[in-house]
Amino acid sequence: MSDSALYAQALPAGPIDPDAPLTLLGGMTPAAFMRDIWHRKPLLIRQAVPGIVPPVSRESLFELADRDDVESRLVSYFRNRWKLEHGPFAEDNLPSRKTGKWTLLVQGVNLHARAAAELMSQFRFVPDARLDDVMISYATDGGGVGPHFDSYDVFLLQVSGRRRWRISSQTKLDLIPDMPLKILSDFSAEEEWVLEPGDMLYLPPQYAHDGIAEGECMTASIGFRAPAYRELAGHFLAWLSETVEGNEALDGRYADAGEAATATPAQLPPGLARAVADRLQALKWDKGMVSEFLGSYLSEPKQSVQFEEIAEISLKQYAKLAKAHGVVLAPGSIALYDRTNFFLNGEAYEPPPALAKWLRRLADMRQLTAEEMAACAALPDLMDTFHDWAMEGWLQIAPARV
Ligand code: SIN
Ligand code: CO
Repeated sequence: MSDSALYAQALPAGPIDPDAPLTLLGGMTPAAFMRDIWHRKPLLIRQAVPGIVPPVSRESLFELADRDDVESRLVSYFRNRWKLEHGPFAEDNLPSRKTGKWTLLVQGVNLHARAAAELMSQFRFVPDARLDDVMISYATDGGGVGPHFDSYDVFLLQVSGRRRWRISSQTKLDLIPDMPLKILSDFSAEEEWVLEPGDMLYLPPQYAHDGIAEGECMTASIGFRAPAYRELAGHFLAWLSETVEGNEALDGRYADAGEAATATPAQLPPGLARAVADRLQALKWDKGMVSEFLGSYLSEPKQSVQFEEIAEISLKQYAKLAKAHGVVLAPGSIALYDRTNFFLNGEAYEPPPALAKWLRRLADMRQLTAEEMAACAALPDLMDTFHDWAMEGWLQIAPARV
């Protein structure tokens, strides 16, 4: 336990005006981008981030790749063979930087580097429930992960050096069998560009692409997620069985008083299937419950996210600090809301309207200012909840303004 987790390192940027043109989108407004491009077609944006400074240095990226709580991969193409290895990697175990054709990919950099978190927040014109993480890759000359497609939307932002991207709208997406990574068996590029630092390429899901480093380079992938319906359904049914409604329908155990003696003992008793079918049919749900499940499920942090619990702090002491400085969601916290509920890191709350207003603002802004906290201080339940979240390391005190 520590005290440093009580304090945030930086103030988050607020939501983005959907109707204000963005350099990041080549002068398009987020509204136009979402209407015409998102999930539909690729877009190359030259100088989306002019004068870009890499969100992490190469050395810091290598340090992250050496951590157990960070997901990293090494892809190489040596002697005409693709190889995929999973981290952590000590720097001595990485190939030499003078050797071409290898790439180190580090997932979730936004959780560990403030600049990467800030970069990700520039994409909050897409709902948080769809935003996944910032992956940063470092490649030596000729490095790449091979021609492939991804299942999710992605913005590929060149953060240092140059990379040649080739893309194709091909619908034939067969993969070479028995390979350690997904490589298209046929790839015929239709368009091709060399991206310089600050240039960005947006690709919708299933769009074939191949990026090859020209000299050493680093690329940030701002990635999104779209849970598969099958995955959601499995988790929803498990969630439903734990709700009051689910419990009522699923209470008890199969009972067979009066079952006739059998001469065909291997046969499944028909009464068993009937009884279970009846109980399953009694399970009822509505859109509100589905929304509650989705909020809890989608706000669950990834397994690798560890919050640092803070040393004991009294409610009174906490309230004083929160009022003086304001509060900020910890970088790994995921906050979502729907019409009735507020969700934080997998937990659902049904706040009364007076509290809901502040919780929604906290989720959208990812912070409440000192002035706003002065108003919140009049709501003891809210302060109690914030205090609990602070102890969990989910909500931090804003840094003092200079
Ligand atoms: C990379 O950064 O090398 C790979 C990104 C991608 O193609 O999805
Ligand atoms: Co890709």
